[in-house]
Amino acid sequence: MSRRLLPLLFLFTTLSAVGDDAALFTLYKNRVAPIIQGSCIGCHVSGGRASSTRLVYASGSSTSVQEANFDRVRSYIEGNIKTGSQYMFVNKGQGQGHGGGNRLSRAEDVQAVTDFIDAIALSLSDGDEDGVTNDLDNCQDVANADQADLDQDGEGDACDADIDGDAVSNTDETAQGTSPDEADSDGDGVLDGEDALPLNASESSDRDGDGTGDNADAFPDDPAETQDSDNDGVGDVRDAFDEDPFEFEDTDGNGVGDAADPDDDGDGYSDAEELAEGTDPKNRFSCKSGCFSFDVDESQAAQPLTDGLLVIRHLFGFSGDALTSGAIAGLAGRGSSELISGYLTGADAELDIDGDGKSEPLTDGLLLIRYLFGFSGEALISGAIGTGAERDSAEAVEAYIKARVPGQ
Ligand code: HEC
Repeated sequence: MSRRLLPLLFLFTTLSAVGDDAALFTLYKNRVAPIIQGSCIGCHVSGGRASSTRLVYASGSSTSVQEANFDRVRSYIEGNIKTGSQYMFVNKGQGQGHGGGNRLSRAEDVQAVTDFIDAIALSLSDGDEDGVTNDLDNCQDVANADQADLDQDGEGDACDADIDGDAVSNTDETAQGTSPDEADSDGDGVLDGEDALPLNASESSDRDGDGTGDNADAFPDDPAETQDSDNDGVGDVRDAFDEDPFEFEDTDGNGVGDAADPDDDGDGYSDAEELAEGTDPKNRFSCKSGCFSFDVDESQAAQPLTDGLLVIRHLFGFSGDALTSGAIAGLAGRGSSELISGYLTGADAELDIDGDGKSEPLTDGLLLIRYLFGFSGEALISGAIGTGAERDSAEAVEAYIKARVPGQ
């Protein structure tokens, strides 16, 4: 130990002894003094039968009398602890080799006296030998004579896993670059543990958790968007024209934004015509005629076990329940057997996938269901092309179906 530290250590030791006394004295006054007054002082008093022992008490209830008796008992018990007979006081009181017999017959009295002895023993111990006894040491196993406790949580900094008390451990703070001994590392008034961006003084919240603070985030509740360069209300990620405030989507992908494109979905019917006819101007499979789709149930996707099955059943001549049973997707826009029958009957020419002049289940129906199951090449067309078919190669069949399937 350096010479400069010695006086410091001495100071703390003295201070702690005072605190020590206060806690012990309270314990004594509340729980031990009444026992001594009631059960012991009759003999342990000047002129009494135990007047020649080391335990002669003053009688009375004034504070100075209490303090004098406290000093007596305490130094008596400390002596016992040092000579290895820690519980002599309670043992004698209970009659063990005691000239006065058993004077502690009540269990709570035994408990009170034992607690007092234990507290004194604790006040004498100092596991980490830092000069602060265990009962007062805010860090009993790591020497910390200064007892520094930044966050005042009763755990000394030397052994506090979260020195600054900001709810982020020292280890995590070091790892994330915040300061383990500053509760608000960026000084924005929000503790590190509650600050979504603890190293950014202008941000403390990130509601959508996208890493951009709410203040800088043009879409604080949308984790997919943070910026809106053209200020049109549509984020740059989704905005097909992020520098053009008048455009953000291009349904048919022809490079002309929908706002400027007279035929958004490129199905050959202008938006104005579609609006007048009640069809969807942004869906190339929705128009008065000629934009047929194999998404028969209008679920936004063509699938083998719904749309494929519907087509093959229709071509076999089924209608009503036999047509649709178990073959309609959960979110179908066209869900009734009447509508589906009507739709497929009206589109009979479109169903002639191989182009042999007839729409049939075991050629056209099979081609569609195989295609939708992902077959291609020979596996797609094998045994399923009608005689005299206009489209008799896998490529031609694939191209024909592909042009009539949403999202492809
Ligand atoms: C009826 C009288 C009487 C009462 C009451 C009495 N004592 Fe004693 N005590 C004695 C006598 C006599 C001695 C001396 C002989 C001995 O050491 O046992 C003594 C000695 C002691 C000693 C040993 C003192 C020493 O110098 O080492 C302790 C400890 C003690 N008593 C505890 C108690 C406690 C605790 C109580 C109260 C709960 C109590 N006594 C009540 C008569 C009494």
